[in-house]
Amino acid sequence: MKVCIVGASGKLGRYMVRHALDRGYEVVGVCRERSVGKLAEFANRITVVPGPTNDREVIRRAVDGCDGVLTVLVPWGVQQYSSGTAQAVLDHTAPDARLVFSCGWHISRDGKDRYSWKLRTAVRIATPLAKLFRAVEIDDQVEACRRIFASGRRWTVVRGSDLEEGESQGLPVWSRHVGDPVLASNLTRRIDFALFMVEALTDDTLVQEAPAIVGRCSASARAHAGSGEPAGA
Ligand SMILES: NC(=O)c1ccc[n+]([C@@H]2O[C@H](COP(=O)([O-])OP(=O)(O)OC[C@H]3O[C@@H](n4cnc5c(N)ncnc54)[C@H](OP(=O)(O)O)[C@@H]3O)[C@@H](O)[C@H]2O)c1
Repeated sequence: MKVCIVGASGKLGRYMVRHALDRGYEVVGVCRERSVGKLAEFANRITVVPGPTNDREVIRRAVDGCDGVLTVLVPWGVQQYSSGTAQAVLDHTAPDARLVFSCGWHISRDGKDRYSWKLRTAVRIATPLAKLFRAVEIDDQVEACRRIFASGRRWTVVRGSDLEEGESQGLPVWSRHVGDPVLASNLTRRIDFALFMVEALTDDTLVQEAPAIVGRCSASARAHAGSGEPAGA
């Protein structure tokens, strides 16, 4: 299996590189030129294509011949970074390639997620403020996911809870809607978020799903194991 990891130099990206190499996959990583050094630990084991992830030519070269593409959707800056990246991946990958994207719980596929007032307030305040200070463009990540959902491709959009560092606890559990009791703990180890992304490449039950994930050892996952719908893993 040959996979491309778009956003390979970030924290999530480097965990995904490790999981993919552990599985014996051939890995191509895309990251900004200034961040290539962050991938030094993988020198000679992966191919790095430096450049902005929303550069269509960079993506075209990087995904050539890939069976799967893992894309870290980040809302940084105000130049449609997320939607530009997603569109380039959608346009340049082989039609049957497995496409797995990351985002947060704030993305909703069908509008049936039930958010806490804390998350609703945070997104409502953060979205215009972040844009004002030209730091983060949350509504562009929403637009990126809208295009992915409408694409008809073999996509999975993995929606991460709050994240923490630490040793792996195994594959997170998931549910279709934020607000489902199994997700209440709202915490996942970043290494396991990456594990879920890489596992999704070979899990056809996740095609055209937007699983919201939570750590499998979190209190809510343990309390509701097997009772949620569809509570994967
Ligand atoms: N952080 C959270 O609590 C959280 C919660 C839920 C979901 N998520 C999702 O998880 C994914 C990654 O999150 P993370 O926190 O683990 O971050 P991360 O992996 O450290 O990723 C940050 C990424 O953003 C890139 N980046 C940083 N500044 C940038 C800029 N100005 N322009 C373009 N790219 C820039 C980084 O590239 P360089 O290496 O080049 O800097 C890196 O690829 C995202 O899809 C996010 O929506 C995060």
